Amino acid sequence: MSHDLTPIPELYVSYESSQKLKLEAAELISHDLTPRQICDLELLMNGGFNPLKGFLGQADYESVVDNMRLADGTLWPMPITLDVSEGFAETIEIGQDIALRDQEGVILATMTITDKWVPNKPHEAEKVFGADDSAHPAVNYLHNTAGAVYLGGPVTGIQQPVHYDFRARRDTPNELRAYFRKLGWRKVVAFQTRNPLHRAHQELTFRAAKEAQANLLIHPVVGMTKPGDIDHFTRVRCYEAVLDQYPSSTTTMSLLNLAMRMAGPREAVWHGLIRKNHGCTHFIVGRDHAGPGKNSAGEDFYGPYDAQDLFRTHQEEMGIEMVDFKHMVYVQDRAQYEPADEILDKDNVTILNISGTELRRRLSEGLEIPEWFSFPAVVEELRKTRPPRAEQGFTVFFTGFSGSGKSTVANALMVKLMEMGGRPVTLLDGDIVRKNLSSELGFSKEHRDLNIRRIGYVASEITKNGGIAICAPIAPYASTRRAVREDVEQFGAFIEVHVATSIEECERRDRKGLYKLARAGKIKEFTGISDPYDVPENPELRLETESVPVDNCAHQVILKLESLGLIKG
Ligand code: PPS
Repeated sequence: MSHDLTPIPELYVSYESSQKLKLEAAELISHDLTPRQICDLELLMNGGFNPLKGFLGQADYESVVDNMRLADGTLWPMPITLDVSEGFAETIEIGQDIALRDQEGVILATMTITDKWVPNKPHEAEKVFGADDSAHPAVNYLHNTAGAVYLGGPVTGIQQPVHYDFRARRDTPNELRAYFRKLGWRKVVAFQTRNPLHRAHQELTFRAAKEAQANLLIHPVVGMTKPGDIDHFTRVRCYEAVLDQYPSSTTTMSLLNLAMRMAGPREAVWHGLIRKNHGCTHFIVGRDHAGPGKNSAGEDFYGPYDAQDLFRTHQEEMGIEMVDFKHMVYVQDRAQYEPADEILDKDNVTILNISGTELRRRLSEGLEIPEWFSFPAVVEELRKTRPPRAEQGFTVFFTGFSGSGKSTVANALMVKLMEMGGRPVTLLDGDIVRKNLSSELGFSKEHRDLNIRRIGYVASEITKNGGIAICAPIAPYASTRRAVREDVEQFGAFIEVHVATSIEECERRDRKGLYKLARAGKIKEFTGISDPYDVPENPELRLETESVPVDNCAHQVILKLESLGLIKG
């Protein structure tokens, strides 16, 4: 394939024009970009998404969704859309220019709106991701995060999004093209990754470079990857730790600010086009490329080699060649990695493999990670970010009626945990939070949700920083509790404890005299009397307090924490 390293078109205006445009854009209606939109905009502006000139209009969108092609027939597998809320969309008219700002309010670009429409999201999910199943992270995003309306139109770039981390390791497509030109690299094979590099990856990249007789670009994604992945700061430190294992004259690494969609086959084609734009001639597609994991029926969304098949069908047209790999496994007898399908003496050798799940288990339990699997420097980095469970932060979230005993058990638990020591403990009791964080709020659904989301935010920060958060609000709505769980689980375990004291018993106790007032109509919207309570369906623990002493209730929580590995037995 011919290798053309001339610069590709960018969407930026000149420096002088950008200064002028920035002033003019300050007058325009602004859209504050989401983190994903910032990633998309950066690659639109710097040519990473060439030939796109902006966020897709309706005709291109429909054609991409249905046929993987723009309306003019050009191959493009991924809808790059600007989703906004209905409220914002109502303020926008076709033909209008808007300013696109980052999360600090910096104007990155202007966009001329040519299209505004309400997408058929279930259809988009089916066609692009293969199923309208929210177990797929991008489908979940589509339904639960993305706005209801799409805006389309060309973008005029003013400035790149600012990155303060690893600046020297980030390159635009044209910067990489210039680098390859300068070094005289005629063939470059790109390796896409969202994981730390272990020995299997090293072997795979070596083999790919050899097979293609090409130089190697390690091109990890640092924009957005699959929820739950190791954060990019840790990963880049891991990559840097193993770069000296590669010949520096034929290998380079660059960070790509892409927001992945985990769309398997379509994603592989998209990744290939992006790497072509970055000046690469070859692209590695391994097993289950950009796989989203299991669907809600527990099955894989895509076959392990579907991505390779789709890439193969289109590679001629794409102008970038695939280097395909089967699953790499370690053959102990020969002390080396080999593609699983090339091992002819399978029955006579010992084949070793550690899956991603197994690696996470070993990290969380502080178990050995063998040298045949990874590099000591990488394992050291990973252990810093993923300490064993017994050293990680977590949140215990009590929920139940007023007077159910949440605060009493929560207090007993706090004291027991403090007696054990090791991690700081914070109690976010309903009354304390209402006094210190939510004093202006009442008890409408909206206000209760806001109150609980605040608690969830604080608990997730505590969890992130390795502490223990004990929360004890009523938290009557299941959907809000689920949202808090999601906030916390990014950083550590979330243990929901339903304090299942019946409303009759709470009313009989009436410790604060509130039930009496509620019955008399003097307190409105009182949970269990005149306001709803969604009983938790699957809490980690349910406490029956009516016949069990407080000390024993708190002890049940301790036992649960032990069984989850969160405290040492
Ligand atoms: S919520 O729904 O989770 O935001 O409620 P929360 O912040 O936990 O409530 C804290 C205490 O407020 C008292 N209180 C009421 N509870 C329920 N409904 C109404 N209308 C109400 N008005 C005041 C109640 O004593 C809660 O304390 P606990 O600790 O649960 O007994």
